Amino acid sequence: MATNHGVVYMGPNKVEVQSIDYPKMQNPQGKAIEHGAILRIVSTNICGSDQHMVRGRTTAPKGIVLGHEITGEIIEKGKDVEFLDIGDLVSVPFNVACGRCRACRERNTGVCLNVNKQQPGGAYGYVDMGGWVGGQANYVLVPYADFNLLKFPDKARAMEKITDLTMLSDILPTGFHGAKTAGVTVGSTVYIAGAGPVGLAAAASAQILGAAVIIVGDRQAERLAHAKKVGFETVDISKHDRLGEQIAQILGEPVVDAAVDAVGFEASGHGSKGEAAPAAVLNELMDITFVAGGLGIPGLYVVEDPGAPNEDAKKGMLKVRIGKGWSKSLHFHTGQAPVLQYNRQLMMAILHDRIPIAKIVNATVIPLEQAPQGYQDFDKGAAKKFVLNPNGLIKAA
Ligand SMILES: NC(=O)c1ccc[n+]([C@@H]2O[C@H](COP(=O)([O-])OP(=O)(O)OC[C@H]3O[C@@H](n4cnc5c(N)ncnc54)[C@H](O)[C@@H]3O)[C@@H](O)[C@H]2O)c1
Ligand SMILES: [Zn+2]
Ligand SMILES: [Zn+2]
Repeated sequence: MATNHGVVYMGPNKVEVQSIDYPKMQNPQGKAIEHGAILRIVSTNICGSDQHMVRGRTTAPKGIVLGHEITGEIIEKGKDVEFLDIGDLVSVPFNVACGRCRACRERNTGVCLNVNKQQPGGAYGYVDMGGWVGGQANYVLVPYADFNLLKFPDKARAMEKITDLTMLSDILPTGFHGAKTAGVTVGSTVYIAGAGPVGLAAAASAQILGAAVIIVGDRQAERLAHAKKVGFETVDISKHDRLGEQIAQILGEPVVDAAVDAVGFEASGHGSKGEAAPAAVLNELMDITFVAGGLGIPGLYVVEDPGAPNEDAKKGMLKVRIGKGWSKSLHFHTGQAPVLQYNRQLMMAILHDRIPIAKIVNATVIPLEQAPQGYQDFDKGAAKKFVLNPNGLIKAA
């Protein structure tokens, strides 16, 4: 049996690459399964969602193997896997979903009812998401493989675009979901809070949905410069405490048709201070969205935040000015993105050169052993999306 190594959370601001068990065909409760596949991982990305855990802002236990953005090759399958074969190259949606419950049957795979004993929704390598082992590793188990996995039609061609296709496991469908649920359509004006990979993926998605103007806001100079370089308008939220005025400088009016929160609960306030302000993005977006417009909210909000700035926020209770949104008839869409709703279409868009997502998020391939450095650089705001290459299968760029 091959040896397996993975990125392990060792407590706040500490991850290590350690030797971990080779995956077994069993669920987190130890029950043997036949619907799973074991993958040799080709690419697996570091995500802002991992950072919430690594910064100690969740209740993630020490010892958890991280990684929910996985692409790999099937090397073993259970006898109930009927429609996939050994050797297939597949994208793994970060949502673990059974394909059989009411939520899955209604395509809401982000809130599957059967893969997590604690609450609806499962994911690999994530706190409170069912205990499925993460895939920042050499090998991983994917349950309900026929349902979850997206097979790339031509393996050789897919490997040529692997740094784009690797974004299908999470950030591209997530950004697309954010833009779509905000109501972005032909001619829309759009504001996206956050110039991290999810914000940029939402911007790229707004572009293919036909938006007229796409503005990305952040306070990290390097990320804003990169967003500008790849073709988006930008606002530096550290320069002003009224986002509407900054938007008016670009659009001639202080409102947009649709807004996306690609930040979540670790938001900082607008203006030069940049203090922790978990509800800042939600309140600003309500302010700048045109009446009857939409807010897509892929940015993560938690029910427990040990590092929150006040007692209420520690329990996930934020000072959201809901009356503002109500009076403007805004709609909100929250939650884990149901990757399966979008990943096939977005795969086709990548394969046919409609969305250069690797370039837009600055995909940067590093070996598994360099994951700790990748986490550190990403935490500091590098304008990069780190893609781990655990088995050396991605050729040097
Ligand atoms: N819903 C989902 O399915 C899903 C999937 C993936 C990621 N996420 C979440 O999306 C969010 C973004 O992910 P990421 O990988 O891009 O993270 P990231 O941490 O790299 O990026 C977040 C960016 O937001 C900026 N920011 C902070 N406060 C801001 C504010 N008030 N206005 C504008 N920008 C601000 C930060 O400077 C940072 O650059 C995270 O919360 C992540 O957990 C959700
Ligand atoms: Zn992710
Ligand atoms: Zn289900």
